[in-house]
Amino acid sequence: MMEEEYVFKVVVIGDSGVGKTQLLGRFTRDEFHLDSKSTIGIEFQTRTVAIAPSRRRVKAQIWDTAGQERYRAVTSAYYRGALGAMLVYDVTRRATFQHVPRWVAELRAHADKSIVVVLVGNKADLAASVPGRREVGVEEARDFAEEQGLFFFEASALSGDNVEEAFMGLLGEIY
Ligand code: GTP
Repeated sequence: MMEEEYVFKVVVIGDSGVGKTQLLGRFTRDEFHLDSKSTIGIEFQTRTVAIAPSRRRVKAQIWDTAGQERYRAVTSAYYRGALGAMLVYDVTRRATFQHVPRWVAELRAHADKSIVVVLVGNKADLAASVPGRREVGVEEARDFAEEQGLFFFEASALSGDNVEEAFMGLLGEIY
């Protein structure tokens, strides 16, 4: 007999170029592309996962949209029905972290009040391998996340580090 599946809608948000599409590709297909083009419009991908402790199967339907304002014809429609959000910034570009409060405000304005949010500092590989590239400290981001009631991970779509943890943590929290 087929086991019943839950569908969890999750949205990925954050400035252009922070790596939203690549985080999604890493989680759903274990793929990464260095020559990734900007997302235009909205796309979604799914992956079915088993959530502990019951191992219940959950289909994660993860939505990706453009970080660039001019491609964002969305908002309310994009957030409708979303149970979780991954808010991404780039640890090597401070401006993308400084814009996080704007994304939080957009979430508060358009998403369900009970939405679970994980803040992800992406491109941790660059911060670790290239001296001087890190522009956002881990402690600073963790403090901000705590203050705002967000879960927090640094991750790398390139190496795959913490990508599974961030998505699975979010899905487990929704569940
Ligand atoms: P928009 O669609 O414009 O909103 O951008 P996005 O947030 O979806 O960014 P995207 O995933 O297209 O990645 C932007 C660039 O950063 C691409 O060149 C990626 O290859 C690169 N990139 C993404 N994640 C990582 C990472 O973890 N490490 C490194 N070194 N590069 C990354």
